[in-house]
Amino acid sequence: MALSFAATSNPSPVSPERRAEILAAPGFGQFMTDHMIRATWTDGEGEGWHSGELTAYGNISISPAASVLHYAPEIFEGLKAYRHEDGSVWTFRPDKNAERLQASARRMVLPELPTEDFLESLRVLVEADQAWVPAYGDGEKSLYLRPFMFGSQAFIGLKPVNEATYMVIASPAASIFKGGPKPITLWVAEQYARAGAGGTGAAKCGGNYASALRGQLEGAENGCDQAVFLDSSTHTYVDELGGMNVFFVTKDGKLVTPELTGTILPGITRMSILELAKEFDLTPEERKVEIQEWKDGVASGDILEVFACGTAAIVTPIGGLKWQGGEAPPTAGEHGGEVTRGIRERLLSLQQGRTEDSYGWMH
Ligand code: COI
Repeated sequence: MALSFAATSNPSPVSPERRAEILAAPGFGQFMTDHMIRATWTDGEGEGWHSGELTAYGNISISPAASVLHYAPEIFEGLKAYRHEDGSVWTFRPDKNAERLQASARRMVLPELPTEDFLESLRVLVEADQAWVPAYGDGEKSLYLRPFMFGSQAFIGLKPVNEATYMVIASPAASIFKGGPKPITLWVAEQYARAGAGGTGAAKCGGNYASALRGQLEGAENGCDQAVFLDSSTHTYVDELGGMNVFFVTKDGKLVTPELTGTILPGITRMSILELAKEFDLTPEERKVEIQEWKDGVASGDILEVFACGTAAIVTPIGGLKWQGGEAPPTAGEHGGEVTRGIRERLLSLQQGRTEDSYGWMH
């Protein structure tokens, strides 16, 4: 039976004045809205998803023995809600997030949440917190939605969970980067891998992001904004940035991104950009990309532009690449290359409803 998310408690909402202040400068991930969604899955008798609710945003209580605190069965999604000119609120390809959450659940042996329940949970939360969706025309601001699921059963043995909790929280968002959409510099994390063959790299699970932090910190110590990770077996091929996928625009008209080998997150922005390539007369290509090809390509001019993409990052130009003992020539100028800016603008115009031509991607 489909889940419903009835209101079970009324929040003391943030005052309209304070909300307006937050929406004027939301940053990324700092402020939460008034409500949240919660549902439970139990195995055995009465198996399945139940107890869906819309409740006041606030702390939750779990047992110290909850499996998520010990073995990290945890998966999540990230997507955004945008306000269009007529005041209506839309999400971008949420069915793809539902499918990816299901794929992550299979890998982490958590229960799958049906697509209709996922979509309904988003609808109920966005409707309740619609005042938190930034205004149309307010730059790249949106309401970031964070669905997540974790093993909540109290049991210290290692086995598939017999109780899981699903939640959705929401947070108004501007650019994920402090300086806004400016070119970033990447650090090649040669010592640290984010994911390994046969591991969980393709699942959107918390552990992948925690394991990327050490490389990112090393990057920060070397004056970089983010780190790029290589394949863990040969340290030869480019994987991804930890929270973003990467694309290359080549002189011979290709839009290249590392192929999905199981260690890379199948980004929904990544998938959409591959589909948009034709609008820019570019041939999309998913293949292995050697880090040496990147270094040589930007030096020779065979690679014209490099950019990162993701729900939070949208499309962010990559201006520099540094590694232990070297750095590549800059690629992006002050605002990123022409194709990078074009793809970014196309995606935003579609998400913000500034074009009719949106492939039916908005929901
Ligand atoms: C997203 O882009 O939605 C992510 O989940 C990445 C995270 C580092 C913010």
